[in-house]
Amino acid sequence: MPTNIILLGPPGAGKGTQARKLIEDHGMVQLSTGDMLREARASGTETGQRVAEIMDRGELVTDEIVIDLIRERLADGGTGFIFDGFPRTLAQADALGSLLKEQGQAIAAVIEMNVDDAELVTRISGRFTCGGCGEVYHDTTRPTRTIGVCDVCGSDRLLRRADDNAESLKVRLLEYYKKTSPLIGYFWRDGNLHRVNGLASIENVSSELSRVMSSVPQPA
Ligand code: AP5
Repeated sequence: MPTNIILLGPPGAGKGTQARKLIEDHGMVQLSTGDMLREARASGTETGQRVAEIMDRGELVTDEIVIDLIRERLADGGTGFIFDGFPRTLAQADALGSLLKEQGQAIAAVIEMNVDDAELVTRISGRFTCGGCGEVYHDTTRPTRTIGVCDVCGSDRLLRRADDNAESLKVRLLEYYKKTSPLIGYFWRDGNLHRVNGLASIENVSSELSRVMSSVPQPA
């Protein structure tokens, strides 16, 4: 029976990569606020344009916008969510707790992925993503088998994110340490915080996450 978990970690820690593995291995549903906001910016609406400017600077989008996006998705029902990149502030964490409670649900585990800053820079500067299916790659650690073609869906639309540059990354890291890292204490207090070494290989991090998943109590 799938449970709800949060992947918590700085930009480039591997949250998106591991979320995709959890979907494959445990049949879970990824809720990535980064992906939702990229969809909003692509829509070209006034809100989308505001979101784009904030994201390109590397700053956090307002709690109000992000919480509304999550509220809409949770209203569709379901469980077994992987919250990827959400919550990122104390206000978002409180809102998530209340929204889940309204549905008789809770967070089973918060998994903090630890990676040092130098490695984050290397990961972010080499990242590219398939525009067709969203698969995440890296120039050196996870290249496509055929240059320019996605291994999973065969698309040749391989993209680099506008905010994956040194200047934005500096702001994103600052935002993480200032506004998101206090959540480590917030969830530690609840007793469901788990830590994994995000510096390990993608496969080893994945095994560690599976070990955590099997240790958390399943919902009745
Ligand atoms: P978002 O899209 O959430 O980006 P992020 O949190 O900065 O995280 P990333 O997607 O950059 O990294 P990741 O941890 O998923 O790493 P990945 O698996 O790709 O947010 C973007 C922006 O949207 C924010 O800056 C903000 O403006 C806004 N936003 C989003 N959510 C918000 C919220 N809740 N509130 C307010 N604003 C919000 O891996 C990175 C690279 O490393 C890849 O190339 C991968 O192949 C490689 N890699 C992964 N794991 C390993 C490994 N173990 N070893 C070697 N390489 C690895």
